[in-house]
Amino acid sequence: MTTERRPLPDLFACSPDRVSIYEVSPRDGLQNESVVIPLHGKRRLIDALVAAGLRRIEITSFVSPKWVPQLADAEELARDTKPPEGVTFSALCPNSKGLERALATGLGEIAVFMSASETHNQKNVNKSIDRTLGVFSEIVPPAIEAGLKVRGYVSTVWGCPYEGPVSPEASLRIAKKLIELGCYQISLGDTIGVGTPRQTRDIVQRFLGEMPVERFALHMHDTRGTALANVLVGLELGVRDFDASVGGVGGCPYAPGAAGNVATEDLVFMMQGMGVETGVDLDKLIEAGNVAEQVIGRPLPGKVHKSGAFKLRPA
Ligand code: HMG
Ligand code: MG
Repeated sequence: MTTERRPLPDLFACSPDRVSIYEVSPRDGLQNESVVIPLHGKRRLIDALVAAGLRRIEITSFVSPKWVPQLADAEELARDTKPPEGVTFSALCPNSKGLERALATGLGEIAVFMSASETHNQKNVNKSIDRTLGVFSEIVPPAIEAGLKVRGYVSTVWGCPYEGPVSPEASLRIAKKLIELGCYQISLGDTIGVGTPRQTRDIVQRFLGEMPVERFALHMHDTRGTALANVLVGLELGVRDFDASVGGVGGCPYAPGAAGNVATEDLVFMMQGMGVETGVDLDKLIEAGNVAEQVIGRPLPGKVHKSGAFKLRPA
C-alpha cells in the first residue's frame, strides 16, 4: 500500500508576530488571597511587573470593600503608584461610586465587568444582567468624557459555576452592548477554567464574525490546565490580546473553585519559543513571580515559575 503524503496545513498562517499581554495579578490575583497583602507588598509586585516589561497592568478594583476586603486600599494604591511613560494602569469599576473613586486617583483606565450567565452576575455584582448594563450605560460614557479608557469583561463565557453551559450568543450580545457604550476592548473570561480548544475555536470564530480581532481579548483561567491550549487556538485564529497573571495567582471569589489566570511566565515562554514578540523579558518576569510569591507568602502554581526558563535555542 502506498501512503500518499499530503501537505500539512499551516496552522499559524493567521497568527500575529506580536501579542499584547494585559497583566492581572495585582487585581485578579490578590482579590482571591485569604490574607490581605499590605500596600508596600502590592507596590513591590507592580514595580517588578513594570521592570519585566509589562505595559498594561490591572492594579486593583474600585469595588465594595465589604465584598472584596483584599483590595480596600484601592484609592491609596492608585493615587500613589503612578505608571511610568508608556505603561497603563487600570482597575475594575462596577458602578458610579467606583467611577467616582477611580477619577479621584487620576487613573488612566478602568474596566467594567459582568457575566454572560445570570446567576454568576447576580452573585458577583448583586444585580441582573439587564440592570448591570443599565449601570454601565450611566458610567461608561461619562468615564470616556472624563478622559479614561474603558475596557470591558464578559465572564463565564466558557461555562458558569451555577448554570453550566453558556451560549456564545449570550456573551456576544453583552460584548456588543459594551462596545456600543464605548469600551475599546472586551476581555472574554473563562472564569472557572472549563474551556477546551474546539469550544474556544467556536467562540473565537463566532466573535471574529461580528467584530475586528483587536476588539476582544482572551482571559483564560487555568483551573483544569487548558488555558495555554485555549490561548494557542486563539493565537492561531489571529487573536493578539491575552490576559495573564504572574505565577498563575488568582481567581474570582464569587466563582467557587476558580483558580488563577494562565501564568504570565508560561504564556511568555510559549510565545518566545514560537517567535511571537511580547515585549516582556522572561528572566525579569520570573523575578517578578518570585516577588509575588514572597509578597503573598505561599507557593504559586505557574509551571515556568516552578521550573525556570530554558533557552530553547543555543545563544
Ligand atoms: P451592593 O451591596 O449591591 O451595592 O454591591 P449597593 O449599591 O446596594 O451599596 C451598598 C453599600 O456599598 C453602600 O454603602 C455603597 O456606598 C457601597 P453603605 O451605604 O451601606 O455604607 N458601595 C461601594 N463602596 C465602595 N466602592 C463601590 C461601591 N458600590 C457600593 N464601588 C457591588 C454591589 C457591585 C458594589 C458589589 O457587588 C461588589 O463590589 N462586587 C464586586 C465583586 C468582585 O469584585 N468580584 C471579583 C471581580 S470579577 C472577576 O474576578 C472576573 C474577572 O476576572 C473576569 C473573569 O475571570 O471572567 C473580571
Ligand atoms: Mg478573572
